[in-house]
Amino acid sequence: MAFPAGFGWGAATSAYQVEGGWDADGKGPCVWDTFTHQGGERVFKNQTGDVACGSYTLWEEDLKCIKQLGLTHYRFSLSWSRLLPDGTTGFINQKGIDYYNKIIDDLLANGVRPIVTLYHFDLPQALEDQGGWLSEAIIESFDKYARFCFSTFGDRVKQWITINEPNIFAVMAYEFGVFPPGVSNVGTKAYQAAHNLIKAHARSWHSYDSLFRKEQKGMVSLSIFAGWAEPADPYSASDQEAVKRAMAFQLDFFAKPIFIDGDYPEVVKSQVALMSKKQGYSSSRLPEFTEEEKRMIKGTADFFAVQYYTTRLVKNQENRKGELGLLQDVEVEVFPDPSWISLSWVCVVPWGIRKLLKYIKDTYNNPVIYITENGFPQGDPTSFDDTQRWEYFRQTFQELFKAAPVKRSRCSLPWTWGMSSRPPLPCRSTAASPLYCFVSQAIQLDKVNLQVYCAWSLLDNFEWNRGYSSRFGLFHVDFEDPARPRVPYTSAKEYAKIIRNNGLEG
Ligand code: NOJ
Repeated sequence: MAFPAGFGWGAATSAYQVEGGWDADGKGPCVWDTFTHQGGERVFKNQTGDVACGSYTLWEEDLKCIKQLGLTHYRFSLSWSRLLPDGTTGFINQKGIDYYNKIIDDLLANGVRPIVTLYHFDLPQALEDQGGWLSEAIIESFDKYARFCFSTFGDRVKQWITINEPNIFAVMAYEFGVFPPGVSNVGTKAYQAAHNLIKAHARSWHSYDSLFRKEQKGMVSLSIFAGWAEPADPYSASDQEAVKRAMAFQLDFFAKPIFIDGDYPEVVKSQVALMSKKQGYSSSRLPEFTEEEKRMIKGTADFFAVQYYTTRLVKNQENRKGELGLLQDVEVEVFPDPSWISLSWVCVVPWGIRKLLKYIKDTYNNPVIYITENGFPQGDPTSFDDTQRWEYFRQTFQELFKAAPVKRSRCSLPWTWGMSSRPPLPCRSTAASPLYCFVSQAIQLDKVNLQVYCAWSLLDNFEWNRGYSSRFGLFHVDFEDPARPRVPYTSAKEYAKIIRNNGLEG
């Protein structure tokens, strides 16, 4: 099961989750520093990212892991307040620039392409104090930060993610209040933040497009979290509608404005208006984009970056608020099928990723797709054996193989299965095994333009409000040991083989 030549195999991390060095060498505080230092059990056992994996001082150890895996891509994020301690370009921290320059240069020297995220949940505290993502001023601040990063690192970084999971961030930070700034609100705040996140992304894309693209020739997108949704009752029309709403509130809310027409999905607009009316508001709680903003937002992504973790069954349910990554007015209940194996909140449903990719292909005009995160947590901090987790990764790769296009030589066998053309597929078939050819033809039906896959995560790390209790790493990290040793799990060893073979065997 070989993947297309040049397929990208990556792993991802983010600054606050791995770096530590929270106040080292002039770094300014970010909102997660403040949030974790305030205690109050909002994070598991009041743990913090003060040291985390120590990647600020142990970058070379991370590089060894990257080389051991043989990654072609490494996705990491820049800490805004390490580069610009008060969030503005008024004061630039050279030590921060040096740190990221070293990472980028080392990666390139080892043939690994950096995919760089500008914002992964860690706003400089100074900007939070001025209103953070609820204030329109953030759009200008983010744009200036983005320009600074493009001009400092863009000679070498060609793949940029502006904002990580705006949908999860808006809900966790401004609806459930479990991420900083810890706002629990069932009115308008998550929408307000989401609105500004979309505009900030779009503005920075335009900056890249007009000021840097010609010279730097890179690509810019944003990473959206998307779980797959199946109707709880496949024969129920209202559950099918509920699935459409779930996908719209979670994925299309951000993707449609950016990839299609600059505006929110109709179903989101009508649903929020309806709910607002029921609650006695005189107008919809969903902000509107002006016509000029719509023009500004439309078409501001050069590829589709998506993060898949899980699938849920979805049922229509009136007056039910959103859950995990679903904005509040969605009126659906989401729950796992009892037969699905769950690792923490992740129900492991490998086929969901294939359906999601097909949905993206069909809804968004067959874009180039990067999976910028996918993974499974495990809870036991002492075991290096994650054989069960590897089995899920393996099944996930099988699903990706079915989704991705495979460009190879044509099959020489006669084709009799009702397909219109001969398969442009790897024809390792022999006269003795024509079935292989059939399977291959079926596989390539999705023809999804998937180009890069990144596992989450390179290392066990600080899993936000779950602290170190949830381990997503390909490498185990011992957080009790000051040296923070990195030890490969079974998944790391097996993933390295997949990368070496550019696919699965057999
Ligand atoms: C997505 C987020 O981007 C990342 O920070 C987080 O650790 C993983 N999901 C796992 O929950």
